[in-house]
Amino acid sequence: MNQDILDRTAAFVEQTLSADSSGHDWYHVRRVWQVARQIGRAESADPYVVELAALLHDIADWKFHDGDAAAGPRAARAWLTELAVDAATIDHVCEIIERLSFKGSGVADEMPLLEGRVVQDADRLDAIGAIGIARTFAYGGHVGQPIHDPLVPPQRHDSFEAYKNSRGTSINHFYEKLLLLKDRMQTPTGRRMAEDRHRYLEQFLERFFQEWNAAPGAPCLPSQSAGR
Ligand code: ADP
Ligand code: NI
Repeated sequence: MNQDILDRTAAFVEQTLSADSSGHDWYHVRRVWQVARQIGRAESADPYVVELAALLHDIADWKFHDGDAAAGPRAARAWLTELAVDAATIDHVCEIIERLSFKGSGVADEMPLLEGRVVQDADRLDAIGAIGIARTFAYGGHVGQPIHDPLVPPQRHDSFEAYKNSRGTSINHFYEKLLLLKDRMQTPTGRRMAEDRHRYLEQFLERFFQEWNAAPGAPCLPSQSAGR
């Protein structure tokens, strides 16, 4: 574990992501980093790999690099190589980043490394609960999608391509990803931490539809029934 490398990486990521408004800002990374450290300790994972992967996991997201899933690992590798980090650590960190992101409700997660499961859980915890809700609508605004459209049902995405190319609504994202994360957590510690945040998602949706339906002349809600 090299503290100087971690400090320099944190400073580099903070500088790179400070102006982001898509939900991948530095504070997201900082939360994932801290929660990953916590889960990593409980799961006895290698702290150096956990911290580096958490810090670099959103350095170049495919969503903002023409769908190029290799952009993130490539940017992480370039940075760690510049710092002369050992090759085995670089390979581990880049493999984690490559496998980390959610690729569709019908696509299974494959994360063989314990350190990767730890970082994936920390990243997913930040996608649910109150912060996950805030990030979802921030992302929706960033890409210009509607908050909700009762005429657009949630989709099941059986491939990463389908998930990548799909255009939907922020409310549908709850059914297409957020509500599924609780059962797709990878470590016992992460699974426990997800429960409370998951309940909050359910409460939010209940309230959202209550208010939506209370509006006079509200249309029927096919997406609501399809998603439940
Ligand atoms: P993560 O940092 O968990 O990998 P993503 O990169 O997938 O998350 O997305 C960043 C944030 O935007 C997350 O909170 C995620 O749930 C949200 N998000 C991703 N895709 C959509 C979408 N199609 N509609 C609304 N929110 C989305
Ligand atoms: Ni992330």
